Amino acid sequence: MGPAGLAPLLLVALAAAACSPEADPAHAPPTAAASPADRGRALFERRVGGLSCADCHSRSAEDQPDRDRRRVGHTLADATRRPSWWHGALDAAKGESVGDAALTCVARFQQRSWNTVLPVTPDGGRDLSKVEVPPADLAAIVSYLDTLARPGPHPPSPAARDSSREALARVAALPGDAARGRAVFAAACAPCHGSGGPDALGPTLRDDTAPDARRVIAYVRSGPGDAERRTGDAWMPFFTPDALPDQDLADLAALIDGGKW
Ligand code: HEC
Ligand code: HEC
Repeated sequence: MGPAGLAPLLLVALAAAACSPEADPAHAPPTAAASPADRGRALFERRVGGLSCADCHSRSAEDQPDRDRRRVGHTLADATRRPSWWHGALDAAKGESVGDAALTCVARFQQRSWNTVLPVTPDGGRDLSKVEVPPADLAAIVSYLDTLARPGPHPPSPAARDSSREALARVAALPGDAARGRAVFAAACAPCHGSGGPDALGPTLRDDTAPDARRVIAYVRSGPGDAERRTGDAWMPFFTPDALPDQDLADLAALIDGGKW
């Protein structure tokens, strides 16, 4: 056998070494013997419907201020220690849990079953028991979230969503810097709106169908309105001022306004 004949064998051997857990223990896929928290981490990073939990949530308080990628959800460090979630819509005092908060995300943003599939409950919520996640997977995700909790005083809940008329007017009144808006767009919006191609999760905001500044501000703060919400594909998550400060939003609105950029 000449050297050319050996090459394929060598490749097979190299590939086997790269895939074996010994080669890189830090990136070994979880096995059946993995702890629930390890399995939960893998599930946290797995993409469903084009998005993973990790695409939208940071996992430590520290990587919030200077991150180059602005995530729409807030940090989940300490999420298991909060007394309520989704700004009080889910409350431990009513028997609800951080797992319910996670199921809400799965239904809204990953499976997109919230608007059209899940039964509405008497209080206007959704029947989360109908979200298609195996209970063992949800328990694993919660044990992973638990590993992100820090010791110390009880963590405050994140800043509330505010899409009141006054809050939107406050943003509209700020002078917007379109050049700066480009950087904000790249960090916060491009993961979903970037290419505008068939694989993009959201529509292009760059052509003559693009929304005006007013709609950009309202949509980013509140997500799709009631009219849009009647369809399964209206699911864009809203950004609170924690995730996207007013000035960033004003700069974005100046950039996108009418799509001429
Ligand atoms: C498309 C982005 C997106 C994805 C994907 C996503 N989330 Fe969220 N998540 C959000 C947003 C937005 C909120 C609400 C933020 C707010 O209340 O301001 C939220 C809220 C939460 C909360 C409640 C936090 C609190 O203290 O109120 C938890 C817990 C959570 N998500 C867990 C998860 C888990 C686990 C996954 C993966 C299974 C996931 N999320 C996937 C965007 C996302
Ligand atoms: C997690 C994915 C995701 C992110 C991040 C995201 N969007 Fe969206 N966006 C969507 C989707 C999907 C739609 C289509 C309608 C819907 O689902 O609400 C949409 C629709 C919109 C619309 C309505 C379009 C129209 O023609 O009226 C606006 C405005 C918008 N997004 C602005 C933004 C801006 C600005 C950002 C960054 C701050 C952003 N979006 C970040 C997914 C996203």
